[in-house]
Amino acid sequence: MRLHTKSIGFASLILLAAQVFGQSSQLAATPPMGWNSWNFFHSKVTDADVRAAADAIVSSGMRDAGYIYVNIDDTWEGPRDAQGEITSNSKFPDMKALADYIHSKGLKFGIYSSPGPTTCARFPGSYGHEQQDADTYAKWGVDYLKYDLCSYGTIMRDESNGDQQVAWTMMRQAYEKMHQALLKTNRPILYSLCQYGHDAVWEWGAEIGGNSWRTGTDIQDSWISMSNIGFSQSGLEKYAGPGHWNDPDMLEVGNGHMKPDEYRVHMSLWALLAAPLLAGNDLSQMTPETLSILINKEVIAVDQDPLGKQGFRVSNTGPFEIWMKPLSHGDKAVALFNRSEAVFPITIKLKAIGFNRPVQARDLWEHKDLGTISDSYTATVPRHGVVMLRLTRSRR
Ligand code: GAL
Repeated sequence: MRLHTKSIGFASLILLAAQVFGQSSQLAATPPMGWNSWNFFHSKVTDADVRAAADAIVSSGMRDAGYIYVNIDDTWEGPRDAQGEITSNSKFPDMKALADYIHSKGLKFGIYSSPGPTTCARFPGSYGHEQQDADTYAKWGVDYLKYDLCSYGTIMRDESNGDQQVAWTMMRQAYEKMHQALLKTNRPILYSLCQYGHDAVWEWGAEIGGNSWRTGTDIQDSWISMSNIGFSQSGLEKYAGPGHWNDPDMLEVGNGHMKPDEYRVHMSLWALLAAPLLAGNDLSQMTPETLSILINKEVIAVDQDPLGKQGFRVSNTGPFEIWMKPLSHGDKAVALFNRSEAVFPITIKLKAIGFNRPVQARDLWEHKDLGTISDSYTATVPRHGVVMLRLTRSRR
């Protein structure tokens, strides 16, 4: 009898451990998807805007396409109270109520802070209050934290006496400190590092608990900014994988300063990069074309492929680039990008992407099967445009 009770106890312990481990490896098992307030609302974002985004993410079908996180970026922060606890400012009257609202829609709630005393928009940061803030976030029901270097850079400069190595060590320790604080809350909170790629963060971001890390500078809603960032990511693929992703920054799709073809390049490239897909537009005002780009399920499936491999550049001839991302079951996603100012044909040779036999091809923007490709395929690609294919080995 005693033995029986013991074995039941042991079994439930194993179950509990499985649940705990299961939970943590579930965090960002594929690149996080959702929405963030910054790229459209900047410092003007309010509680009403975030609720409207949550409403729209559901009614538009984006939630069902995988966009789950609703994230407030900078400028929500109020002063600390007498106990040092962070409050929200008048734009966000009740954070717990907002989190509850977001959760009630089957979504997750994200927030923003800095290891410095102030954020980049000069609101209070977490410096000296790391555990207290992590506990507050957990109490509110936060599921995602973007932690942005901002004014901690000044502290690093001041306290390192010009020794860059000392400054970098301080930076890692500051990110590790918040990681430990988040762990102590016992709430799974996705940890998104934002320090613009300093000190090759991809080499150590995962070690200090980062589920994603920004690889560079802020994106702007322009072809130049988006393409400069996106096309410069090749080489970082070996650092990404389930639970830890390179983050070339949030999406600008639908913010109005790029052409639809350019937004298709943006979405295709980010999917090939296994990048977090955080929409950054006003979801309550989207055109059908913007929505169709954001919820192209076949492109999203490339980003979210469970193998978790980041794609890379296979070749480039001047402004014509071919990129490939290995997918599960031996499939491959291939994109033919035309960065030039005129329409051009681009040819992909199967051998160049590791296929020695014919493949079945599907066009992921046309949603069309192209049949069998035996040797090579030539597509006419628009200016600042892309043709994106999924290639599957032919079954014999
Ligand atoms: C920048 C960051 C942006 C945004 C902004 C808010 O440092 O890269 O994505 O968060 O701060 O102030």
